Amino acid sequence: ATNQQWGGRFSEATDAFVQRFTASVQFDQRMYKQDIQGSIAHATMLAEAGVLSEDERDAIIQGLKTVQGDIEAGRFDWSIPLEDVHMNIESALTKAIGITGKKLHTGRSRNDQVATDIRLWLRDEIDLISTEMNRLQDGLIKLAASEADTIMPGFTHLQTAQPVTFGHHLLAWNEMLERDFGRLQDCRKRLNQSPLGAAALAGTSYAIQRDMTASLLGFSKPTENSLDSVSDRDFAIEFCAFASLLLTHMSRMSEELVLWTSAQFNFIDLPDRFCTGSSIMPQKKNPDVPELVRGKTGRVNGHLISLLTLMKSQPLAYNKDNQEDKEPLFDAVDTVKDCLRAFADMVPAIEAKSEVMLEAAKRGFSTATDLADYLVCKGVPFRDAHEIVGKSVAYGLENDKDLSEMSLSELQQFSDQISDDVFEVLTLEGSVAARNHIGGTAPNQVREAAKRALALLAER
Ligand code: ARG
Repeated sequence: ATNQQWGGRFSEATDAFVQRFTASVQFDQRMYKQDIQGSIAHATMLAEAGVLSEDERDAIIQGLKTVQGDIEAGRFDWSIPLEDVHMNIESALTKAIGITGKKLHTGRSRNDQVATDIRLWLRDEIDLISTEMNRLQDGLIKLAASEADTIMPGFTHLQTAQPVTFGHHLLAWNEMLERDFGRLQDCRKRLNQSPLGAAALAGTSYAIQRDMTASLLGFSKPTENSLDSVSDRDFAIEFCAFASLLLTHMSRMSEELVLWTSAQFNFIDLPDRFCTGSSIMPQKKNPDVPELVRGKTGRVNGHLISLLTLMKSQPLAYNKDNQEDKEPLFDAVDTVKDCLRAFADMVPAIEAKSEVMLEAAKRGFSTATDLADYLVCKGVPFRDAHEIVGKSVAYGLENDKDLSEMSLSELQQFSDQISDDVFEVLTLEGSVAARNHIGGTAPNQVREAAKRALALLAER
């Protein structure tokens, strides 16, 4: 007995191990819905083109729906000898409706079929991921708006630099996500073309109507070139590139969350439901969710490299290598969805410890630049002002005093240009409020930026 779908020219059955080795049904059955959707469009078009009668078309569509019902009810027996999702479904169709089922594959190949299925599947997943990104961004922006007045130290080199607001910091995260969202939509746009009709590689001699299947399946148009149609997996690579960058951003956010929940920073609290304990140290509350998101970045980066490497030497057109595209892509999608879900649930529940943040901002001379700017306003050249403030900071370090804690006469040791009004710029509130321009950390700017960001979300 040889394979019923292609056994005609074979004189012995496939080796049992080779059958398992070459099969993909274990993982590509995930695309059963898209496979059936594509087949229904194909059968509809074949009837329109006069290749199938209307009765045959109706029987095929009915049969495919029965098969889908069986799969969804858990009544479907996936068979390894039938290799992949495509041949499993076609075989079940023929079992269900008889000889007419064998006509479905007219003018089609598994090569254009699988290219169509993955695009349809990924498009559905992209739409789910887009919704989840919106939910995360919505929670993030609203938290930022409510923390617009919360002062924290801003860092460069992880050393205290200048005071910023917590809301401003969170909106920086949103900008990363906003770019990621744009990249995802860009990927969707290029993905959304129909390879159906390319057949094995050269097209088909039937009078197929590629525009019709494209529009039935919600694609913007048919792909241009049949060879490219069956060998292109750019969309999977583009998705993984999006995923890598998204996870890179979420990993950076995670790193900050992990730091901030530590006793040493103590800037925020994560609710218990997002943390776990230690089996030995009773005091522990570990930020597992951000740690794991940080860790999962590695596997998604790996999938991107897998796909790039998979494609790099393939001659046109289809090669069996392409079957290896699915597991990395599927896992990248699953991982992105899980990480987004975790973050979308967790981010709105972040509790800022504003007192601790404020105290931290008071240490580390975060208003030193403000003092230099103040001297510049009094006519001191910036480089001299820098030097003067540097000396004031050295004095403060020796005497364990922040700039704002020094008396006027103490400050005047370093410059006679300093007068009473200096204390307005040495406060943290004055410092952040002074950065009052688009993209600045002033609380009113943060509130405006949050409004604009929410308006962008509402447009999608
Ligand atoms: N299971 C195959 C894949 O995932 C489907 C296409 C197979 N085509 C072929 N000529 N062997 O790529």
